[in-house]
Amino acid sequence: MGSPLTAAGLAGPLFALHAKAGLSGVARPPGDKSISHRSLILNAMAVGHACVTGLLEGEDVLDMAEALRQLGARIERREGNNGVEWHVDGVGIQGFLEPENILNMGNSGTAARLLAGAIAGSATFAVMTGDASLRSRPMARVTEPLTRMGARFWTRSKGRLPMAIKGATAPMALDYTSPVASAQVKSALLLAGLAAPGETRIVEPTMSRDHTERLLSRMGASIGSGTNSDGSGWEVCLKGQPELTAIDVDVPADVSSAAFPMVAALITPGSEIRLNHIGLNPARAGLVTTLQEMGGEIEIMNQRDVGGEPVGDLCVRASNLKGVFVPPERAASMIDEYPILAVAAAVAEGQTTMQGIGELRVKESDRIALMAQGLTAAGIKVSESADELVVTGTSQIAGGCIVKTALDHRIAMSFLILGLVSKRSVVVDDASPITTSFPSFQSLMESLGAEFRKPIK
Ligand code: S3P
Repeated sequence: MGSPLTAAGLAGPLFALHAKAGLSGVARPPGDKSISHRSLILNAMAVGHACVTGLLEGEDVLDMAEALRQLGARIERREGNNGVEWHVDGVGIQGFLEPENILNMGNSGTAARLLAGAIAGSATFAVMTGDASLRSRPMARVTEPLTRMGARFWTRSKGRLPMAIKGATAPMALDYTSPVASAQVKSALLLAGLAAPGETRIVEPTMSRDHTERLLSRMGASIGSGTNSDGSGWEVCLKGQPELTAIDVDVPADVSSAAFPMVAALITPGSEIRLNHIGLNPARAGLVTTLQEMGGEIEIMNQRDVGGEPVGDLCVRASNLKGVFVPPERAASMIDEYPILAVAAAVAEGQTTMQGIGELRVKESDRIALMAQGLTAAGIKVSESADELVVTGTSQIAGGCIVKTALDHRIAMSFLILGLVSKRSVVVDDASPITTSFPSFQSLMESLGAEFRKPIK
């Protein structure tokens, strides 16, 4: 499905011109992708009417909206007096209808896994697929525990999409210890647990993002979380079959998207920018902490609460960065930010070691491998292991390469930012995946002074 925001410039190869001057200006990046997904799916499972503002209109979220429509929810985009509004009328827990056609989740792991959980808890049948990237990603991490709750799944080999789902007619509550700190797994089980009588309990090794828990609590569900009794992980307990009431959501700007202009300003000499209305949930803000530890001047201003989520404005100034050790226990709070952190590390003085990041190998692409390949091609010293990336910074980035982005928006944006400071250009082979999460990436970066070009064939 096409984005209502045109991003024609993002089709095909692209590169950034070496920045002649520092970046400057004020910008508000688009809505948080995780909260956007949840504002739609949770309201689609609630009773009543909700109005969502600040929703990310990227392909991933639009695919989620379309799938929810096929499952019977009413979702409409309207131009309101204060900007775009998304109106959702839910069908209630277990209220999904049988979709007439295959649900296409495009590039979105979050949409696929959260919907798998929601469908597992309703007695409907659905078939789901996605693009080549999503069709290669592991689904067993959700289908295996959801099967224990009573749902049935038929997948391709190794648990990959396409997959057929027969939801449980009488879902059972689950007590589950997840081997990975994954908000997608946790949220999928919570969404199925909404339909099960009794308590669903999920333990994860470290706390992953908690947007689902925050929204469910605001919608009237009884949900609690904390370190588990033996201290081995983070547990979340949900009482099933709540009265779930629709709520309006004002979606903050995505810190994972803000990460790109943030690093661009830190590494481009003479820069000073301001990024407004950024979601700063502690389970998401690990990159800000890490960049500050590297010596990055990032000032957090106007800290406030927006609909149960911490939000602030960031003032970012060009800084001389130093390499750091990024501890494994921080990984969940910045899991999507390692590609752009690797770019910051490439210009920092000394070595940056990122540990405990094995999950990056099963994101939209194998992000450890692609970052290592692209940075090496640009003349930077990198080493990788199964769950580690080590980047040795340099004051002169050579560039002069074409990097493979493999349908991965964050790989594409990271290498475009590297090009701002490289001697010769860093061309990304395909910028089109950027529309999945940040359709306005190019225009926002241009408003701060960056320039992009398409290579001459
Ligand atoms: C997300 C969770 C993370 C993250 C993804 C969005 C979410 O994935 O990488 O971009 O919205 O729940 P995992 O749950 O697999 O870690």
